[in-house]
Amino acid sequence: MTRQVVAIGSLKGAPGASTLALALAAAWPTAGGARPVVVEADASGGDIAVRFGLSNMVGLLTLAAGARQQEAGSGLDGCTQEVAGGVRVVVAPTGADQAAPCVSEIASCASVLHGDGDSKGVVLLDLGRLGATASQELARVADRLVLVARGGTDGLAHVAARPEWLEGVQVELVVVGPCRYAESDIAKALQMEPVQIHVLPWDARAGAVLSGLGRIGERRWRRSPLGRAASRLADRLAGVDTGRQGGGLVDELAQFASRPLSRPTVGTAGEGGAK
Ligand SMILES: Nc1ncnc2c1ncn2[C@@H]1O[C@H](COP(=O)(O)OP(=O)(O)OP(=O)(O)O)[C@@H](O)[C@H]1O
Ligand SMILES: [Mg+2]
Repeated sequence: MTRQVVAIGSLKGAPGASTLALALAAAWPTAGGARPVVVEADASGGDIAVRFGLSNMVGLLTLAAGARQQEAGSGLDGCTQEVAGGVRVVVAPTGADQAAPCVSEIASCASVLHGDGDSKGVVLLDLGRLGATASQELARVADRLVLVARGGTDGLAHVAARPEWLEGVQVELVVVGPCRYAESDIAKALQMEPVQIHVLPWDARAGAVLSGLGRIGERRWRRSPLGRAASRLADRLAGVDTGRQGGGLVDELAQFASRPLSRPTVGTAGEGGAK
């Protein structure tokens, strides 16, 4: 079994693809196994290095160089840095001039993402806006694509008018922020199944932490609206059946049950939990 690759991208604007990639990594059910890796393969240039004050000389540049030379063992591990208290990230260079060729290089050698037969875990591939041909190629070689859009009529209209190359790609839609439509309505309008639609709340505090502004303790993260929604979505994408129905009383009560699966931490030791 190779590593699972979940691509995350948008069609217009900056609806929250990078934030979702980091949130899913922080919430991913690892069951004590391989930790998830976010690969910021955004052809427009990355944000994560700047937001978290990291070097962007290690990351997508080194991953693409390894893929180009087809170096034995050229893998993700040597290209990652940690953000938000433990999420592993391969950061993109900030400029599109450097980032776009790296994305093309990786698209022509996507095995660097899937790894070999022994590779485990998941790559959360942050493709940013799906404009470049190489970004679209990567979206197609991923095991599935999570499209991110804002919940207003304009954001959803871009999904309704989605380009033809998306036909045949297994898509989940994440609707970020306030949305006055029910998931079933959105599904009907977009000719998708209701189970493919996921509403992600606007959560200023947790969203800011995932942009490098401030910190949050692990317990508080897990109880935050974004942490809980990301956990439900991560379970679905990972194929974990938690028996949760999503939202409402079932979700509220689940907070009191001990969680069977370990997850990477967000926050730092000694930062306490929810008070
Ligand atoms: N669910 C959320 N709750 C609160 N803030 C959010 C959420 N999602 C995104 N944001 C905020 O919105 C802004 C844009 O988010 P982000 O950088 O993730 O978008 P993006 O789709 O990756 O954009 P780009 O295509 O430019 O890379 C950031 O300030 C981020 O903190
Ligand atoms: Mg982004």
